[in-house]
Amino acid sequence: MKILVSGKGGVGKTTISALLSIIFSKNSYNVLALDTDSVPNLAQSLGIPMEEAEKIIPLAKNDELAEERTGARPGEGWGILFSLTPKVDDIADKYGIKINDNLKLVVVGSIDASKEGCLCPAIALAKAFLIHVMTSSREIIIVDAEAGAEVFGRGLAEKFDLNITVSEPTIKSLAIARKLIKMANELGVENNILVLNKVVDEITAAQAVKRVFGGEGVEYHIVRYDPEIVKLEMLGKGLDKLNPNSRVFKDVQSLYEKILRIKKS
Ligand SMILES: Nc1ncnc2c1ncn2[C@@H]1O[C@H](COP(=O)(O)OP(=O)(O)O)[C@@H](O)[C@H]1O
Ligand SMILES: [Mg+2]
Repeated sequence: MKILVSGKGGVGKTTISALLSIIFSKNSYNVLALDTDSVPNLAQSLGIPMEEAEKIIPLAKNDELAEERTGARPGEGWGILFSLTPKVDDIADKYGIKINDNLKLVVVGSIDASKEGCLCPAIALAKAFLIHVMTSSREIIIVDAEAGAEVFGRGLAEKFDLNITVSEPTIKSLAIARKLIKMANELGVENNILVLNKVVDEITAAQAVKRVFGGEGVEYHIVRYDPEIVKLEMLGKGLDKLNPNSRVFKDVQSLYEKILRIKKS
């Protein structure tokens, strides 16, 4: 099952992606977590210490690997011939970071060439890799996607089985979430879940959803605000250290159960 986690910046995409990755892997699912943010930080949320996480070169910036696989150096552009079908089938195994026995992380980085200001071979390599894994047979793929969600591009978007749009329970954040869900729908993603994150008051949150989505009807899932997360972050610890009895863990656990029901249907 291929899961896209989308939403505007700061709403909790990385938090939800990390916790879902941890929960799926602890339940014996084989998970590949992909960070496609231009400022990747999923590694730290998965418990990789800062010093180590900072050394990771995102695939979309790995010029050396791109040259090895495409035959082109950065700056050589598209004018010259380079391989558009580079070898990528070993990347998850060779360059993936092992988080636990069932969970691997690949830091892809942003594949948005316009944003990165280049049409470099490394971005071509990262895109080829994404397309490859999206058609692979791995059990669970969780993509922590940047706000602008370039992964919504044609050729990739339709391969997701589920889009989880994360939003804070505010009108502004929900308005963006609504657009993202609409986009996912139009691109052929069959299942959508709206995750209302950092919820303090469930009644007001439900009212905000009603105001923004009106009669459209959207399935939403509440994840409560949890100071435990803030505590862990202050200590520089990953979410693998989160107490399973904490609110946020329990709420993401029930999100996981909801996803399983979709997966089996
Ligand atoms: N349920 C929650 N309760 C409290 N803080 C949260 C919760 N979810 C996320 N946060 C905090 O909000 C901030 C942004 O979360 P993050 O997952 O990095 O967002 P995004 O990936 O969407 O930019 C982080 O500091 C994170 O710890
Ligand atoms: Mg993030």
